[in-house]
Amino acid sequence: MAHDAPAKAGFDPRERVADRALRQRAAAVIPGGMYGHQSAGQLPPEYPQFMRNGRGGRIWDADGNSYVDLMCSYGPVVLGHQHPKVEAAVRSQAALADCQNGPAPVMVELAELLVATVRHADWAMLAKNGTDATTMCCTIARAQTGRKRILVARGAYHGAAPWCTPRLAGTTPEDRANLGHFTFNDLDSVRAAAAEAGDDLAGILVSPFKHDAGLDQEMVDQDFARGLRGLCDATGAALILDDVRCGFRLHLGSSWEPIGVDPDLSAWSKAIANGHPLAAALGSDRFREGAKNVFVTGSFWFSAVPMAAAVATINALREEGAIEAMARAGTALRDGIVGQAAARDLEVNYTGPVQMPYLTFAGDRNHELASVFAAAAVRAGAFIHPRHNWFVSAAMTAADIDVVLCATDQAFAAVREHLGRWTSNDRNGGTAPSV
Ligand SMILES: Cc1ncc(COP(=O)(O)O)c(C=O)c1O
Repeated sequence: MAHDAPAKAGFDPRERVADRALRQRAAAVIPGGMYGHQSAGQLPPEYPQFMRNGRGGRIWDADGNSYVDLMCSYGPVVLGHQHPKVEAAVRSQAALADCQNGPAPVMVELAELLVATVRHADWAMLAKNGTDATTMCCTIARAQTGRKRILVARGAYHGAAPWCTPRLAGTTPEDRANLGHFTFNDLDSVRAAAAEAGDDLAGILVSPFKHDAGLDQEMVDQDFARGLRGLCDATGAALILDDVRCGFRLHLGSSWEPIGVDPDLSAWSKAIANGHPLAAALGSDRFREGAKNVFVTGSFWFSAVPMAAAVATINALREEGAIEAMARAGTALRDGIVGQAAARDLEVNYTGPVQMPYLTFAGDRNHELASVFAAAAVRAGAFIHPRHNWFVSAAMTAADIDVVLCATDQAFAAVREHLGRWTSNDRNGGTAPSV
């Protein structure tokens, strides 16, 4: 389907001929049929596995069904799909070269732009994925301090390497031997973990707010953030901000700049190149020596095209007031969705910043109601997720917001109907409802 082909919403998932055929072929040659966060295996059958194209705030699956995109490729797409200035920069760099014997001049341009844009950054190192960046920050913290222990919040996601993957298959206890744990927003728990680490504390790794999968999100308590800064100053450990998911969606700079807390090191990826593969570790001068001493690299870490995309993305974010646009669209969505839930007398929690919201239903066990809601929304053309926060892009138009609100209204109706079925089933001696 061409990018501007008319949207086709309200489909029957059984009609997904192309998706079904691709799933069958994938099952033979890709372990488990698909893996990682983009596996549709655990999602309701309404979800397509394979996507074909995107433009602005809309995406199309392999069968040509259209959706308003509220997952934004799980975060990378911040300006909208196929942003003209980003894609023009990509084309002109690609016409020169991408992967060469040495980095292209655009690497220096991007490092300068990142240092000028992010307050705490005096230098930048580039990589591919968020896991590269969080791992690199931990390695640099250890190289600089000569210590081993890194503290992380229980349940936080920092990537898929053996030291941090949430699934333990194939990892060893030794992979995590140098981690300590605390509870997000609980400074006493950090102090206890730091005391346990003693003089071996290399760093504290923390996300800008609590965005653990499947749970209500929790904004950071400013005193907690300041307390972490104070603890790192007192001990010489690195404060490492994992801005992989939030970076350049909440603020054009580190996500803790608005609350006045600067980390020593920060990890970035997802939105920095509007969907092109790039990650960055940024740091202050205090950690420059450690950064100089580590050996980190990758065959594709110096590819020039994603760097050109990042320069264009960061400039467009500023020139187009994209952060403000996402806040406006996110506010309209939140107000509409919360109002719809109240009108149907459904108790929901709509948590997190409006640009990265997540919806849960009070008392919902095993995400049962969230799944009914998400499946109905997807059927009606709004691509959301039942167990992961959503992402708003700056490309969302008033028409996109209308489509989403129409879909969420139908989705709340489906939840009400589901609850009604449970209640009558229960009355007739069926299984107890989970809410
Ligand atoms: C907060 C956070 N850190 C790190 C990562 C890992 O990034 P990647 O999947 O690009 O390796 C993610 C990915 O979702 C993330 O959300």
